[in-house]
Amino acid sequence: MKAYLLYEAGGTDKLTLGEVPVPALKNGEVLVKVKAIGINPADTIYRNSDAFITHIFGEKRPVIMGWDISGEIVEKAENTDGFEIGDAVFALLQNAGGYAEFVAVNVELLAHKPENIKFEEAAAVPMAGLTAWQPLIHGMNIKKGDRILIHGASGGVGHYAVQIAKYLGAEVIATSSGKNRDFVKSLGADQHIDYQTENFWEAIEEVDFVFDTIGGETLERSIDITKPGGTIISILALTKEEMMARAEEKNVNLRLWGLQFNGKDLRAFADVLVRGIIKPHIATIYPFTSIAEAHQQVETRRTAGKIVITV
Ligand SMILES: NC(=O)c1ccc[n+]([C@@H]2O[C@H](COP(=O)([O-])OP(=O)(O)OC[C@H]3O[C@@H](n4cnc5c(N)ncnc54)[C@H](OP(=O)(O)O)[C@@H]3O)[C@@H](O)[C@H]2O)c1
Repeated sequence: MKAYLLYEAGGTDKLTLGEVPVPALKNGEVLVKVKAIGINPADTIYRNSDAFITHIFGEKRPVIMGWDISGEIVEKAENTDGFEIGDAVFALLQNAGGYAEFVAVNVELLAHKPENIKFEEAAAVPMAGLTAWQPLIHGMNIKKGDRILIHGASGGVGHYAVQIAKYLGAEVIATSSGKNRDFVKSLGADQHIDYQTENFWEAIEEVDFVFDTIGGETLERSIDITKPGGTIISILALTKEEMMARAEEKNVNLRLWGLQFNGKDLRAFADVLVRGIIKPHIATIYPFTSIAEAHQQVETRRTAGKIVITV
């Protein structure tokens, strides 16, 4: 099968199209013929760092990257009940391997692709969708009418977070640049702040929750406009101890959230996709041969919605 092989970390030219055997199935796995691949900032960060690649794959080289896939089941091993050959599925691959024509996936990580969305849209969901879903659903007790500030609302993660928060009945204040104001409002945001021309900490009343996808000063300033007793969840590493101390002083619960590989959450997300409550937004679809361009676009960190590749 064709796959993008990474022999060493570096620029997009390190993603080399090559031929490797189709993966052999283990107990509990199905073989998925990949139809579409989602690209995330993490793909570009890991591609660039040998230390990160070693963290997931050990010393083995070359490796096949790619966490987000959708496709069709073409073979199944024992203990794969609930999934049949021919089923359309999508997954967040714990061990990566998605930049390929076929990938072996443990059914624990698998969800059926909703019929009302295309393979490209399904591949745009797993990593970004669950990074928004898990903290908002499991980490915040959002009640109808609560106010939430969402940073980076036009991005892959943020555009799902806005829709999830609206689904939960929250009043949503969202930040992005001015060029994405209409997009962010179309997702359901009640108020939009252009971070390039306005200081959100001066422009809005205190909120109950903050979901932060930006970090740094954005996170630090968010403490000032969170109500005492409120919660901030950031998906960016917290580096400053004084930031934690400032949050504690104001009785704000400030937490860092890391994505969990969890098929149960993906199946719950599939349910809201089926009901049309949340819609993936794709900025650009690239062909399999243009994976370098897809990575370069994601590396701008200015993409509205998601970048997807068709296989
Ligand atoms: N902890 C985890 O497990 C985890 C999981 C997934 C992702 N992440 C991290 O989360 C971050 C976001 O991921 P993503 O996929 O959403 O990235 P993305 O698709 O590249 O989106 C970034 C968005 O941020 C907006 N933005 C940039 N600077 C901003 C600012 N100062 N204030 C408000 N918005 C700003 C941009 O909007 P404009 O173009 O309008 O400026 C862009 O739409 C990345 O750093 C990623 O590595 C962490």
